[in-house]
Amino acid sequence: EKGNYRHFMEKEIHDQPDSCRNTLSAYLDPIAGKAHAPGGFDFTAIDRIQIVACGTASYAGQIGRYLFERLAGLPVDVEIASEFRYRDPAVAKGTLAVAVSQSGETADTLAALRWCKDKGLTTAAIVNAHQSTMAREADVMWPTHAGPEIGVASTKAFTAQVSVLTALAVAAAAQRGRIDAAQEAALVAHLLEAPRLLAESLHVEDAIHAIAPEIAKARDVLYLGRGPMYPLALEGALKLKEISYIHAEGYAAGELKHGPIALVDEQTPVIVIAPTDDFFEKTVSNMSEVIARGGRVILITDAQGAAHAPEGARVITAPTCDPVIAPLVMAASIQLLAYHVAVIKGADVDQPRNLAKSVTVE
Ligand code: F6R
Repeated sequence: EKGNYRHFMEKEIHDQPDSCRNTLSAYLDPIAGKAHAPGGFDFTAIDRIQIVACGTASYAGQIGRYLFERLAGLPVDVEIASEFRYRDPAVAKGTLAVAVSQSGETADTLAALRWCKDKGLTTAAIVNAHQSTMAREADVMWPTHAGPEIGVASTKAFTAQVSVLTALAVAAAAQRGRIDAAQEAALVAHLLEAPRLLAESLHVEDAIHAIAPEIAKARDVLYLGRGPMYPLALEGALKLKEISYIHAEGYAAGELKHGPIALVDEQTPVIVIAPTDDFFEKTVSNMSEVIARGGRVILITDAQGAAHAPEGARVITAPTCDPVIAPLVMAASIQLLAYHVAVIKGADVDQPRNLAKSVTVE
């Protein structure tokens, strides 16, 4: 039921503090300060991870890659399932194949998972539909507890997937001796803060109301980010395309000079996702380049980032958080922006044209 919300998507965006908390509770022990895979999993028995997924789930996978590599030192490849399944990939023994899927039924992701199983790899599925085909066929099922997602554009399933991947990366880091017990406890404490900060991040809605009418008039929109904010930029662009039918592109901020800067003019909003982290200074210089060329920058950041925003950038200030949970806390802003732009345009938010909730044919 939609309750007091106009659309399922709006409700599901606001469900995220709960869906994130429910999901994390299956992976974290708050008393011991430890992270674990439900049912246990030995991350010392694998050498690398191959993530396969489509669309939004693949962007969750890309965020997961940063965390697994940075925290656990585990090499991770992420590939769109429709490409992976047809290109005869050379997968090394010792690879854990991980499918990420809300429905657990997406045809390409399922085919990629089966292909990996046929090759003798251990397979895992991060799924929201716990009775789905992927849930049954994978060796290991890692559930998200987002609850049913009705809106065609994925929101709470995405943040639940990112929650699972983050918790598992912490578990893998601890098992592989990359972090000690105190570091694990500190990371778990940060993760436990995510639901509250996600709730706080929904307050950006006021700032978004002020900016959405201008985005609704744009023909093209660019999204930029670095590090884990790069996949979030891709996700922001996908959300806008799907529900508002405005052409949008996500780019790694460092790629700006290698092409997309040619698109920058007064008509093209450039949305930059840059919380305070190791990449912030670099991204500020990208923003300045855009502004110097007459571009209109909208910066999604935290309070410290807002204080260091280049002159001419308009700012959406999300809560301050540890970088490990920044993808979760920043996600709400891009979702709400796409949602309010679509509402202004009068689009059918929950049933975007040409799209199906679950793509069970190729
Ligand atoms: C975007 C969206 C799609 C799905 C993709 C995979 O908002 O919903 O891109 O993420 O079709 O679907 P699942 O996760 O069910 O495999």
